[in-house]
Amino acid sequence: MAIGTAGYTAMLAIIALEKNGVSPDKGEVLVTGANGGVGSFSIALLSSLGYRVVASTGRLAESAYLKQLGAAEIIDRATLAEPGRPLARERWAGAIDSVGSHTLANICASTRYRGTVAACGLAQGMAFPASVAPLILRGVTLAGIDSVMRPRQDRIEAWARLATDLGPAALALITREIRLSEVIETAHRLTDGQVRGRVVVDTGR
Ligand SMILES: NC(=O)c1ccc[n+]([C@@H]2O[C@H](COP(=O)([O-])OP(=O)(O)OC[C@H]3O[C@@H](n4cnc5c(N)ncnc54)[C@H](OP(=O)(O)O)[C@@H]3O)[C@@H](O)[C@H]2O)c1
Repeated sequence: MAIGTAGYTAMLAIIALEKNGVSPDKGEVLVTGANGGVGSFSIALLSSLGYRVVASTGRLAESAYLKQLGAAEIIDRATLAEPGRPLARERWAGAIDSVGSHTLANICASTRYRGTVAACGLAQGMAFPASVAPLILRGVTLAGIDSVMRPRQDRIEAWARLATDLGPAALALITREIRLSEVIETAHRLTDGQVRGRVVVDTGR
């Protein structure tokens, strides 16, 4: 349960990057929503696979945690959150985005020639105020990640990869266990953006 939907979704996103030709030698990979579940697992997995990972977060105070997970560099999510140009300086070989909205548009605009952006979330918003310029001028691929209706074969592939690519130390770092009686208070902290990684509820305690 510690891996849960977040870890599984992160793995699906990484497989999408790989299938579109992203590899550690191609350059940096950006992970947004870094302190969240999908973000934390994405950082740990990408770093264990040899990528240079740049983590985007609104919680710079959690930089030590993100570096422990394997982030090489931390950037402030505010640098991606506002409307930007259709094309910006090329930086990312790949990206895993949990945020959507202007952030996703700005990531596409700064993805390198033939890079891939895996879009899995909407923490900033569901809108996608982007242009087709990165797609048609730089051959950027926007890979949509759905975890819910995935065919069985994709699920088997993702969980098999999690079994080999996710170390127990990363899992322990990302996860915190709570008692059932702590759920309501933790849920409030989660919606206030104060929970990092993943929380497992032990219903027996
Ligand atoms: N496609 C799928 O099948 C699938 C599967 C699982 C989840 N999701 C979606 O993916 C997203 C992430 O899921 P999760 O479980 O990782 O959620 P989560 O644990 O709540 O993490 C979301 C993270 O996004 C960042 N964030 C929050 N509000 C933001 C804002 N207004 N602007 C920019 N960043 C913001 C925060 O990271 P920082 O504090 O580090 O900035 C937060 O920790 C959610 O939208 C979820 O619905 C989709």
